[in-house]
Amino acid sequence: MKVLVIGSGGREHALAWRLAQSERVQLVYVAPGNGGTATDPRLENVPITDLPALADFVEREGIALSVVGPEAPMAAGVVNLFRARGLRIFGPTREAAQLESSKDFAKAFMQRHGIPTAQYRTFTDAAAARAYVAERGAPIVVKADGLAAGKGVVVAQTVAEAHAAIDAMLVDNRFGTSGARVVIEDFLAGEEASFIVMSDGRHALALATSQDHKRLLDGDAGPNTGGMGAYSPAPIVTPALHARVMREIILPTIHGMAADGQNYVGFLYAGLMIDAAGNPKTLEFNCRLGDPEAQPILARMKSDLVDLIDAALDGKLDQAEVEWDRRTALAVVVAAHGYPDAPRKGDAITRLPADSDDCIVFHAGTERDDGKLTVTGGRVLAVTALGDSVRAARSRAYAAVEQVEFAGMQYRRDIGHRALKPR
Ligand code: AMP
Ligand code: GLY
Repeated sequence: MKVLVIGSGGREHALAWRLAQSERVQLVYVAPGNGGTATDPRLENVPITDLPALADFVEREGIALSVVGPEAPMAAGVVNLFRARGLRIFGPTREAAQLESSKDFAKAFMQRHGIPTAQYRTFTDAAAARAYVAERGAPIVVKADGLAAGKGVVVAQTVAEAHAAIDAMLVDNRFGTSGARVVIEDFLAGEEASFIVMSDGRHALALATSQDHKRLLDGDAGPNTGGMGAYSPAPIVTPALHARVMREIILPTIHGMAADGQNYVGFLYAGLMIDAAGNPKTLEFNCRLGDPEAQPILARMKSDLVDLIDAALDGKLDQAEVEWDRRTALAVVVAAHGYPDAPRKGDAITRLPADSDDCIVFHAGTERDDGKLTVTGGRVLAVTALGDSVRAARSRAYAAVEQVEFAGMQYRRDIGHRALKPR
C-alpha cells in the first residue's frame, strides 16, 4: 500500500521512516516533506500543501492511508475533508482538535470532566484580566487561547510581567486572533513529562513515555522553543504514575470527548506537570505526537505502526499491543543560527553523519536542491541515538552531532540531564 504523511518536520520524517518499515508499505509520500524525506529509500516528497489538492492527489494515487503530523492542518479541518471524501486518515477532526487549538476549550473541558489541571479563568477584557492577576498574585501563567507555535505562553514571575503579557495579547494583538482571548492559570511547580497515546475514540494505547527540553540553553535557561531535545523512556513516569495518568487524565479525556459528541481519534499528547509528591496535572493537550518526542519514541517502536493505526481507525485499540526496544533513545536537536526568534535560512549543511542501526539523523528545516542540502527553518535536525542507558544513548547522539557542520548551528550539550539525576 501507499501511505501519505502530512507535514515537513522532524516528527514527520520519523513517522514516514517508521511507516516505510512496515512490510505492508511500498511507498510513503510526505507532503511537503524536507531534505531528509527527499532522499530516504521508499519516501517521496509531494510539493502540495493546499488541502483539497492533497485530497485529489490521494485519490489519484490510490493512497490507502494518510497520517497528519502537525496541528495546523488538523485545526484547518484536513481530517473532516478527507473523511467527507471517503479517504482513510488518522487524526482528530477540527472539532476534536480544539483540545489543542483552543486553550479555553481544553480548560473548560477538563473542568467539566474533573480532569486535574491548574485553576484558571478566561478573559477577553484586559482590565478584568489584570484585576484577576492582581488578586491571584505571581507567579502566574498567561496563555493565548489559540495556536501560537509554542510562543503563546508566558510564565510570569511578577504581576507586572503578567500585565505586560495580557496587554501584548489583548491590547496590542501580538498574536492576532489567537490572542483575542487569554487563559490565566495558576503556576504549577514540578517536573514536566510528555504522555502520548493513540486513541480510537473509546480506547487508548499508551506509547512509550518521554520528556523534552523546551528551553534553548543548557541548564534549562533562555527562551522557550518548540523543543531542543527529548528522550524516551522518562524515568519520572513510574508504573504507578503511568496507571494514574491513564485513569485520571487520558481515559476521562477520551470518554469525555465521546460523551460531548466529539469522538477523539488520533495521537493525543498530554503535557503533564508532576509535583514533588508525584501528583500529575495536565498543562496542555496536543492533538498530535510531540516534536522532538516522536523521534526517540518512534526510534524505539518495534511494532508495525500501520497495524496500530489500522487498529485505531477500526476502533480496536483495546486488542492492540505495542512492543518497544528496551533501550533508551535520545534526540539532540540542532537548530539554525538565531533560533527561536529569527532563524537564519540558507546556510549550507556541509557535513552529516551516516545513519546506522543505532543512530538516525531526522531532518526538519532542511531542503535538498541539486544534491545540496540547506537550512530552511529553525529546528534543522534531530540526531537520534539508541543506547543501553541514558548515558550510552547520549554519548552516541553527541558523537554524531559533532559530525554535523553548518554555519551558526546551535544545540544543547545537556539533553537527558533530568533522566540522569538520582531519584
Ligand atoms: P503549554 O503550551 O500550555 O504547555 O505551555 C508551554 C510551557 O509553559 C509548558 O511546557 C510549561 O513549561 C509552561 N507552563 C504552562 N502552563 C504552566 C503552569 N500552569 N505552571 C507552570 N508552567 C506552565
Ligand atoms: N515538544 C513539545 C511539542 O511538540 O509540543
